[in-house]
Amino acid sequence: MALVKSESELEGLRVSGSIAAMIRDRLAASVAPGVTTGELGDYAAELMTANGAKSAFLGYRGYPGMICVSVNEEVVHGIPGRRRIRLGDIVSIDVGVRHQGYVGDTATTVMVGVTDQDVIRLVQTAETALREAVRQACASKRVSDISGAIERTALDRGCSVVRKFVGHGIGREMHEEPQVPNFRQKGRSSKLRTGMVLCLEPMLNMGGHDVEVLADGWTVVTKDRTFSAHFEHMVAIRNGDAEILSLDKTGAGN
Ligand code: MF3
Ligand code: CO
Ligand code: CO
Repeated sequence: MALVKSESELEGLRVSGSIAAMIRDRLAASVAPGVTTGELGDYAAELMTANGAKSAFLGYRGYPGMICVSVNEEVVHGIPGRRRIRLGDIVSIDVGVRHQGYVGDTATTVMVGVTDQDVIRLVQTAETALREAVRQACASKRVSDISGAIERTALDRGCSVVRKFVGHGIGREMHEEPQVPNFRQKGRSSKLRTGMVLCLEPMLNMGGHDVEVLADGWTVVTKDRTFSAHFEHMVAIRNGDAEILSLDKTGAGN
């Protein structure tokens, strides 16, 4: 799919973004001590069916889950299963849906009775980094302006930035051009143009930036096992402020 979307393509992506956001928010509200990540996956499946959507993750390169649920030291791509959420955990929920051919992809991190000040700072910093990224997402800025805003926000507050995984364009495919790294890279990056739709997704760690994949072939964890937080919005580039597509407009939420 082209980098710049047509008006009708944008219409489709507004709907898929909104459904993904509604499910993200419902799942986030369901996170509590004693709940398993598998139960969150089951609830996601129910909500997708009820909204005429399918998981964009299930079967993607063989991924076995409906959503990704990544707890504490898990960075991304946690597979819903028997892990039980406990007080003091942080839980990242990443929801990807396909609706009438268009993909929506969004994530949030929920704190479950967290009192550790360093963990609170990590999660708040990741959310701030996303907000700063969205502020840079407008026509005539460059991908590197987004990357730089995320990296600066993280480093200023003592967090590290995961380098192995990046944000991305989105359309009829979940991962389209351009890549949107969460750190500044050498050389000139592409200019943002009105009608591009991007997923901005800071992944920040409390310790070092290194990650590794567990034996299940999917779950990405921090190498030093310190906590990691992840937030993701899907935005359309405009001349002025970005239009956030991953906001619940379904009227089904809350
Ligand atoms: N949602 C992830 C992203 O933000 C990708 C998930 S890959 C999958 O790009 F295999 F888990 F589906
Ligand atoms: Co995602
Ligand atoms: Co994404």
